[in-house]
Amino acid sequence: MLYPQSNLYRQTIELADFWDFCFDPNDVGIQNGWQKGFTDARPIAVPASWNDQFEDGRDFLGPAWYQTSFDLPWSWDEKRIVLRFGSVNYLAEVWLNGQSLGSHEGGHLPFEFDATSWVKQSGNLLVVRVDGRLAFDHVPPGNVTGDAADFFASHAGNFPQAQFDFFPYCGIQRPVMLYATSQNYLRDIAVDTQFQDLLGKIHVRVERVGEASGIARFHLLGYGHHSTREIPLSNESVEVDIDVPSVMLWSPKNPNLYDLSVELVRNGNVIDAYTLKVGVRTIEIVGDQLLLNDEPIYLNGFGRHEDFPVVGRGYLPALIVKDYALMQWIGANSFRTSHYPYSEQMLDLADQLGILVIDETPAVGLYFREDGLEKRGALCQQYVREMIARDKNHPSVIMWSVANEPHSTPPHTRPFFEELYHEAKTLDSTRPVTLVSFLGAGEEAFAFYDLICLNRYLGWYVGPGKLDEALSTLSVELDSLHEKFNKPILLAEFGADAIPGHHAQPPEMFSEEYQTELIVRYIELLRQKSYVVGEHIWNMCDFKTSQGVTRAGALNYKGVFTRDRRPKLAAHRVRELWQKNT
Ligand code: GCU
Repeated sequence: MLYPQSNLYRQTIELADFWDFCFDPNDVGIQNGWQKGFTDARPIAVPASWNDQFEDGRDFLGPAWYQTSFDLPWSWDEKRIVLRFGSVNYLAEVWLNGQSLGSHEGGHLPFEFDATSWVKQSGNLLVVRVDGRLAFDHVPPGNVTGDAADFFASHAGNFPQAQFDFFPYCGIQRPVMLYATSQNYLRDIAVDTQFQDLLGKIHVRVERVGEASGIARFHLLGYGHHSTREIPLSNESVEVDIDVPSVMLWSPKNPNLYDLSVELVRNGNVIDAYTLKVGVRTIEIVGDQLLLNDEPIYLNGFGRHEDFPVVGRGYLPALIVKDYALMQWIGANSFRTSHYPYSEQMLDLADQLGILVIDETPAVGLYFREDGLEKRGALCQQYVREMIARDKNHPSVIMWSVANEPHSTPPHTRPFFEELYHEAKTLDSTRPVTLVSFLGAGEEAFAFYDLICLNRYLGWYVGPGKLDEALSTLSVELDSLHEKFNKPILLAEFGADAIPGHHAQPPEMFSEEYQTELIVRYIELLRQKSYVVGEHIWNMCDFKTSQGVTRAGALNYKGVFTRDRRPKLAAHRVRELWQKNT
């Protein structure tokens, strides 16, 4: 899936700023015909979550209605016109001028509709119904009832009752765009990269729609390299290998990016074009090591969230820049998109800045009781497809994570994760695939996933306050996990809540000192294990959760930075450790 682009052959406009909005607590919108427009609205900012924009409605998860009107730019006659949503949490239904364009289930990944037949030159009315209500057959699930042994009971008492530990923000959370292309257009571009000594190889696969005549032209530009290849168009797809002598590889130290422009040409005229940033790099697991460009790499970074006051999980460009500046300040080289894919722009900047990313689907809080299992399975497959389709060309994306802390219980877990592994590998055989577990040795899937990703809260949820015991337990467990599965291990989550400004000597839980000591001692232990390929602290910043007795102020305080991005004591100590590495 290509991100909308404006160039000589394509145009894009964003439907941003303020839309009309209204909560629909009695769910009467459909029967009242709001799909054709509604009154009694209030202004809302788009993109942003709705929950923290108003004094009412924080815990209201839907349904709610959005509407906006727009005219088309004058040059869009005869064009193919597409309406694209960057992400809408959770269920979106879309109408244009009263005509249903369709719906999409699942926040955090884009969807689009061909609006060509329904759009008018002016006075278009776009209406979106958004439902973020939690349900057991959603992914991630919520409002799960029944035997607590079947699922994460620890979240059961929280409000809203989400099967996950972050606030279920709702709404149109990423940009809504309209874009125009010719009726003959490039539908998708996929790049795979290799290199041998100094010769880089970029394999490009292009999918296009329209008349099967003409040629596809490929320009590659960068670092003194300029090449052009032309391939006759015969089928829906066309492939080419582009050689790059004296290739400048992409890596965290040198995030070199080439410009690849693909053109559709007929009778000598370019009818469509798209330019992509390409980084030539390889990523693989060999023995106990994670190799980037044939060199061992160690991941030091964070689990994170797209989270900030007022906008909630909304797209906020300045926050992306700020968070990367903090990651560079502290010396982090990587993060996981816990627990859902982040914005495309987050990955574009990771490519540019040389930050490594483990891209994770929204499959958090999964449980395997039969009720709704099939639907949850289908959604997880859908998310893997959508995520890989959207993010496959980013050099920064080094791994796919298909789930976080599944409540794995036989007999359904193994086939469930075998299918997901197979789906991911079929779509992309060039990256390792993992899932992030709290079970450890009991996680059957580790037998066939590429890497062990483990979450551990020893000295916090388990053995609270007892750090010595925690570290010795962890050391033994890591060794036995490695012995059992003989794969590299990433400690994907570890950490402790620290209330900003709360101090204690000797250190005690919830103090900045305890958080610091726990994190530093974990890192020192991990560095002694040759099969450990990384340490991701939970979390980079404090973030909003549901209300519950373990969440003072409805916040998770495990950030080494506060929610408004101020460093805690741990941030300074971690910086000392990590800066030494860079
Ligand atoms: C889990 C989970 C996180 C959660 C964390 C915590 O491991 O993956 O989403 O926030 O624990 O409890 O702090």
